[in-house]
Amino acid sequence: MKDTVKCEFPAKSINESFARVFVASFASRLDPTLEELAEIKTAVSEAVTNIIIHGYKGGNGIAYIECEAKETDGKKSLKVKITDKGAGIDDIELARTPLYTSNPDGERSGMGFTVMETFMDKVEVKSLPGVGTSVIMTKYLHGGKEDESLE
Ligand SMILES: Nc1ncnc2c1ncn2[C@@H]1O[C@H](COP(=O)(O)OP(=O)(O)OP(=O)(O)O)[C@@H](O)[C@H]1O
Ligand SMILES: [Mg+2]
Repeated sequence: MKDTVKCEFPAKSINESFARVFVASFASRLDPTLEELAEIKTAVSEAVTNIIIHGYKGGNGIAYIECEAKETDGKKSLKVKITDKGAGIDDIELARTPLYTSNPDGERSGMGFTVMETFMDKVEVKSLPGVGTSVIMTKYLHGGKEDESLE
């Protein structure tokens, strides 16, 4: 059986810290370092902020989070899927480009996806305009992936 948990909550900034702590408390079963945990929380924050600002444009909507813990050949990994049913993204490649923001007049710097890519090992974006967006991020714990190159 898969080791998964799910939650959903109104996409409001008051729930951002809930989302971070939800994922972090699930991730703690994989014995992450404090640094890894901080990286996971930062990536989750970026994805949830995007849902609030871009997905639902400050209006009402639900954010969905699914987490899966895996351990294969002693290598631990965390997969986090963060979904909205909001505006969707026209050009995913452009959206992922560092410094690109569709909101240049505001306080956005266009670095959210870059931060997610920096702190997680894999970031996949699935999106359809008018339907919504899913960001699926994977992180290997204790350098499970990188360790191979050291051995
Ligand atoms: N959930 C989403 N729904 C719709 N559009 C999105 C979503 N997430 C990201 N985007 C689009 O992708 C662009 C890039 O996102 P990214 O997080 O990299 O930058 P930003 O949110 O504009 O700025 P920053 O994250 O630095 O505050 C956004 O400007 C927006 O157009
Ligand atoms: Mg962002």
